[in-house]
Amino acid sequence: MFKAVLFDLDGVITDTAEYHYQAWRTLAEELGIEGVNRTFNEQLKGISRDDSLRKILSLANRENDFSAAEFSALTQRKNDNYLQKIQKVSPADVYPGILELLQELKDNGIKISLASASKNGPILLERMALTSYFDFIANPEEVAASKPAPDIFQAAAAGVGVSTDEAIGIEDAQAGISAIKAAGSLPVGVGRKEELGSDIAAVSRTDFLTLAYLTEIWEKNKI
Ligand code: G6P
Ligand code: MG
Repeated sequence: MFKAVLFDLDGVITDTAEYHYQAWRTLAEELGIEGVNRTFNEQLKGISRDDSLRKILSLANRENDFSAAEFSALTQRKNDNYLQKIQKVSPADVYPGILELLQELKDNGIKISLASASKNGPILLERMALTSYFDFIANPEEVAASKPAPDIFQAAAAGVGVSTDEAIGIEDAQAGISAIKAAGSLPVGVGRKEELGSDIAAVSRTDFLTLAYLTEIWEKNKI
């Protein structure tokens, strides 16, 4: 049986992936960069703030147009916009079934750990009144490499004293699924297999994420 569930946040626990997208699209429009649409956004999901901006600038071959200070001002501008958007996030914004899943995991002694690349993760958990469910929150500022590298999932598992191969990782992003695989945990996707890969278990809705479902997937994969 698995001993921990390593959760991504944006797009798994709540709809903040949409706010990240809107904030990046606004910044791109202000810079006159075209192409930040929903298809392109699949590549932005899960990756760090700096990596996201680099990808957006590269759409217009403008990666080298900005000094380090200008680059940092741009990421700050995006984050200020994002912070405005998440101001009203509340417990009502937790995706369906997530609270019930957290409670089931807690009741069964399965560790709960956050593996989000977002520096805003702790604030969001607070706003949704979920902090007390989490045994550990991995700090994205302390890991060497961001998703698709496995580091944040390794940190999330280590933080709850569980080996990565005894953990399930839940993700809505391609980069995140790659990170879970690289860490040696079992990936479960939230979203479409077309985007996340046909080789993994995926749910189209978070209320399908029950302990019974995760146990079934775990047992199928460990035979
Ligand atoms: C998550 C999101 C990304 C976001 C990244 C950094 O991985 O999926 O869209 O860019 O976190 O978030 P932050 O809040 O630190 O800018
Ligand atoms: Mg996500």
